[in-house]
Amino acid sequence: MGLLHGRHAVVTGGGSGIGRAVCRRFAAEGAKVAALDIDGDSARETAKEIEGVALTVDVTDAEALRAAVDTAVESLGGLSILVNNAGGSTMAGLADWDPDEWDRIVRLNLTGVFNGMRAGVPHLLAGGGGAVVNTASISATRPSAGETPYSAAKAGVIALTASAALEYGPVIRVNAVAPGMIRTNLTRPLLEIVPDADALYGRLTPAARVGEPEDVADVVTFLCSDLARFVTGQTLVVDGGMTLHGAGVDGLFDRFFRGGHPHQR
Ligand SMILES: NC(=O)c1ccc[n+]([C@@H]2O[C@H](COP(=O)([O-])OP(=O)(O)OC[C@H]3O[C@@H](n4cnc5c(N)ncnc54)[C@H](O)[C@@H]3O)[C@@H](O)[C@H]2O)c1
Repeated sequence: MGLLHGRHAVVTGGGSGIGRAVCRRFAAEGAKVAALDIDGDSARETAKEIEGVALTVDVTDAEALRAAVDTAVESLGGLSILVNNAGGSTMAGLADWDPDEWDRIVRLNLTGVFNGMRAGVPHLLAGGGGAVVNTASISATRPSAGETPYSAAKAGVIALTASAALEYGPVIRVNAVAPGMIRTNLTRPLLEIVPDADALYGRLTPAARVGEPEDVADVVTFLCSDLARFVTGQTLVVDGGMTLHGAGVDGLFDRFFRGGHPHQR
C-alpha cells in the first residue's frame, strides 16, 4: 500500500517544477490530488496525468484561493494534506526594488502561504487532522545578495510554519522544505546565464549535481506521511549539502543583475 493511501491533497503551484513532481509522487503513493495553479493549462496537464483535479487560482487572492480549496475538497472528498508551494522571484538591489514589485513578491511567497493555510486549515480540522508542508528556500536559511524580498518572505514562511505547528498540534503537523538549486522553470534562466552551470554546481554541492524536482517531492512526501509522525514545526533543507559551502545564487547579482550603480560596486 502507498505511503499516502486514502489521503486527499491540495498542492499550490502544482502545474510546474516542484509542485508537479509533488502531485505525481503523491498520486503514486495512493493520494487523490488537486493541482492548483495560476496557469490553468499547466494545472490541467498535471491533473490529466494523475487523474486528479485541476483548478486555476492566484494564491495572492485570499477569497479566490479559499473558494478554490473549497471546490477541490468537495471534488476530492476531503482534505488531509496541504502543500503551499506556489512561489517565485526576480533579482534587484535592495534600494532599487520597485515597491510594487517588492509587495508582489512578498504577497506571492509569504501571504500566499498564509492564504493557503487560511483556506485549508478548517478542512483539515474538520477531517480530523493532517499534514501541511510549506515551500521555503535556502534563500531564507542562507540568503544571497539581490533577493531581499524573496529571502525575507521565505524566512517568514519558516516562522509561520513553526507558529502554525504550535497552534495546531497535535491535530495538524506543519513543516517546511527549503530547496537548494533545483532545475525548474524558476531557475532555468539562472542555469542558462551561468557558464557551465551544471559543472559549477556539481563542484559546489556535496551531492555533486543540480537538484531535480523529484528530489524535493520525495522529501515532501516523507513529511506528509506517517513516517514523519513525530516531526512538526521543522524546516528541512533539501540542497544536496550546497549551503555547507555557500548558496547557489551567491555572486549572480553582482555578475549579471546589478548594473548602473557604480557606488554599489
Ligand atoms: N527551483 C528552485 O531552485 C527553488 C529553490 C528554492 C525554493 N523554490 C520554491 O519552490 C516553489 C516551486 O518553485 P519551482 O522551482 O517549482 O518553480 P516553477 O516556476 O517551476 O513552479 C512554480 C509554479 O507556481 C505557479 N504560480 C506562480 N505564481 C502563482 C500564483 N500567484 N498563484 C498560483 N500559482 C502560482 C506557477 O504558475 C508555476 O506553475 C516556489 O515556492 C519556489 O520559491 C524553488
